[in-house]
Amino acid sequence: MLVLGIETSCDDTAVAVVENSKHIRASVVSSQDQIHAAYGGIVPELACRSHIEQIRPVLETALAQAQVTLDDIDVIGVTQGPGLVGALLVGISFAKALAYGTDKPLVPVHHLEGHISSIYLEHDDVPYPFVALVVSGGHSDLYVCPERGHYQLLGRTRDDAAGECFDKVAKMLHLGYPGGPIIDKLAQTGNPAHVHFPRAMMAKETFDFSFSGVKTAVRTHLLQLTTPDGEPIFADDTFWPIPEAPWWEPQRNDILASFQQAVADVLVAKTLRAVQQSRAQAIAVVGGVACNSALRHAMQHATGTEGLPVYFPSPRFCTDNAAMIACAAAYRYQTQAWADTSHSFLDLDAHPNLMLTGSEIS
Ligand code: KG4
Ligand code: ZN
Repeated sequence: MLVLGIETSCDDTAVAVVENSKHIRASVVSSQDQIHAAYGGIVPELACRSHIEQIRPVLETALAQAQVTLDDIDVIGVTQGPGLVGALLVGISFAKALAYGTDKPLVPVHHLEGHISSIYLEHDDVPYPFVALVVSGGHSDLYVCPERGHYQLLGRTRDDAAGECFDKVAKMLHLGYPGGPIIDKLAQTGNPAHVHFPRAMMAKETFDFSFSGVKTAVRTHLLQLTTPDGEPIFADDTFWPIPEAPWWEPQRNDILASFQQAVADVLVAKTLRAVQQSRAQAIAVVGGVACNSALRHAMQHATGTEGLPVYFPSPRFCTDNAAMIACAAAYRYQTQAWADTSHSFLDLDAHPNLMLTGSEIS
């Protein structure tokens, strides 16, 4: 079965062709990072306009790479939510037109089920139940997956998502966007024990997260820094100008490594607690922040002695992509009854706040 996946929920325009849920014939992602970099975060209106411009060329590139035509496609899957409403609507409208014009079934996909499905692209043998840590620019959620396609929400962030926190700290220091990969790289040479930033809600019996406090702690720490002469480095919280002296970059990288470690420690501790409570057999870490080297290392280190398997998708399947959407669509298509020829999908609408429970998508 050949599935065409379409993903436009945020700032990546992505189309993939996946065969039998596994063989990735093409996975094309057009990133809008350069458009949003000037603003240090995503501007929804610009995201929509760029999706409109990019969706058709991205489709054509994906079909060419996969060496197929639309006629060869059996099923089309598209992200229905959650995400930016205008961005979602571009993908959904495009997918509806394609499905209608070619008379193919159209399967709506939950974006987070897509992220969790990214592990099935590369692994057949995931044991159940497993705990899924979904960490991206928009989400920091912990789920237990008792079986394929079923999800019980244990906790989520009460304020910023983990990726959003990386992006905001990078913006604070004028490092660029998206902040996660930049901080990850700069932190490689930093000392993660240099500053002990707060690990929020660790003691509480909750699986919820809070990341706005660590961001504020970084701001407060930066305002207290002094030059070797004892002068404040920053006059105010614009954190501008950035010092050009040779002592600045090592110090900055220590702060970034310490910040990154604080975020990773919380994510690992809560995930392990979720494993204990649910007697899970494995952990899946998915979403853009799953690329983070400190998180990968801390999670592997914490689980290594117990031999608990941890599944991280390859980096290109951690960040938003359409192969994961095609994989989830294939599963939904095979396990649910679809009114293939009734064109009922013409009523399909975007759901910016769609919740993931495992069976609510229709
Ligand atoms: O999954 P994704 O592409 O989009 C959403 O669904 O949000 O995740 C993007 C997020 C951004 O916040 C980005 O800064 C973060 O993932 N990210 C990282 C890394 N690579 C991407 N965060 C930390 N370390 C990384 N290496
Ligand atoms: Zn995502």
